[in-house]
Amino acid sequence: MDFELTEEQRLIQQTAKDFAEKQVAPAARIHDREGQWPGDLVAQMGALGFMGMSIPEQWGGAGSDALGYALAMEEVSAACASVGVIMSVNNSLVCDPIHKFGNEFQRKEILTQLASGKALGCFGLTEPSSGSDASSMDTVATQDGDHWNITGSKNWITNGPHADFIVVMAVTDRSKGSKGVTTFLVPTGTPGFSCQEPDEKMGIHGAHSCTVFFENCRVHDRYRLGDLGGGFRVAMTALDGGRIGIGCQALGIARAAYEKALAYSQERKAFGVPLSQKQAIQFKLADMATEIEAARLLLWQACSMKNRGVRHTQESAVAKLFASEMATRVTHQAMQVFGGYGYSKEYDMERHYRDARITEIYEGTSEIMRIVIAKSELAQ
Ligand code: CAA
Repeated sequence: MDFELTEEQRLIQQTAKDFAEKQVAPAARIHDREGQWPGDLVAQMGALGFMGMSIPEQWGGAGSDALGYALAMEEVSAACASVGVIMSVNNSLVCDPIHKFGNEFQRKEILTQLASGKALGCFGLTEPSSGSDASSMDTVATQDGDHWNITGSKNWITNGPHADFIVVMAVTDRSKGSKGVTTFLVPTGTPGFSCQEPDEKMGIHGAHSCTVFFENCRVHDRYRLGDLGGGFRVAMTALDGGRIGIGCQALGIARAAYEKALAYSQERKAFGVPLSQKQAIQFKLADMATEIEAARLLLWQACSMKNRGVRHTQESAVAKLFASEMATRVTHQAMQVFGGYGYSKEYDMERHYRDARITEIYEGTSEIMRIVIAKSELAQ
């Protein structure tokens, strides 16, 4: 297997690194402290092609492959995990399913706006009383001629307070279980759509999420995304890509924490020598470097399968599970290297520690990842 990046992938990586270091990192602390939405950075990502990376240029995207997207996600998330998840949701959970399942109208009129960053999208699957058990939702869509009326609520909707469109899953035939779910693409300006104030969370403060409500939201059938009853498959297929994105977000967070711990260990002296000369610290650094590299290779494997058009449900789950739990371990150890300063708000370490934690929860908890992996292993 060849791990050499192509010239195009190296260019994406370098562009993302420059953007992340010069534009994203300097504002990360303030976005975190103030809970400020990084609207200017989202606009810049649109101009760079980062909001629809794997979408062909014809539909407003950058035409990159899955690995190019992974490289950019790692760089952006290393600078700011909030900006990383805003980018990931728009790419993986909004643009990709519209590209894969959308009709001509949706691709031409909606995808081009979303992929070019002129509009922002969000993804509505989770509900107040169903998260992991995603198909048991309450939101319903009832047909009225060539229109649908959608009623219900969705919560923890990342990008929700700022989105122009929502990809939403609703029950169209309750007797059919997961085969009675259909996906719709709803403009958030549709009468009956509303959202609450942003949620208060432990981390990723710059990435606003909220609860959204549909009260008889009426959309034409041309806004139906994919087949009638095919909505759960649309959601699961989107999440197969989304889990790569979140895995890369975790990888970026872990790398940022590790690089800071590595530098600090060489500056800070204890017992007359730099911390880096102590074997206890060297072992921590070695473990962190090894785990980061392992996560990256698992993520790249999932990207390689996605590029080949092969189903990668298991590989995405393996990569997301390992990368997110790795980010929790690495940020924990990196904080140990920093000691009390790591716990202080004067440094970025406590932000990385808080931001890492969500990657084990959203887009499928670690427990759900293990269910997906075990199911796939047992079916072989
Ligand atoms: N691709 C294609 N089809 C799939 C699929 C996939 N990845 N996963 C399941 N399916 C199909 C199955 O093949 C099955 O079809 P058949 O009946 O024809 O075989 C059908 O869908 C139902 O599948 P399951 O029986 O496996 O469904 P389940 O009810 O047992 O649920 C689950 C499976 C994996 C637990 C799923 O519910 C799940 O992934 N839950 C977690 C939800 C989640 O990740 N939520 C994240 C919300 S988004 C978010 O977090 C965004 C954000 O804020 C950043």
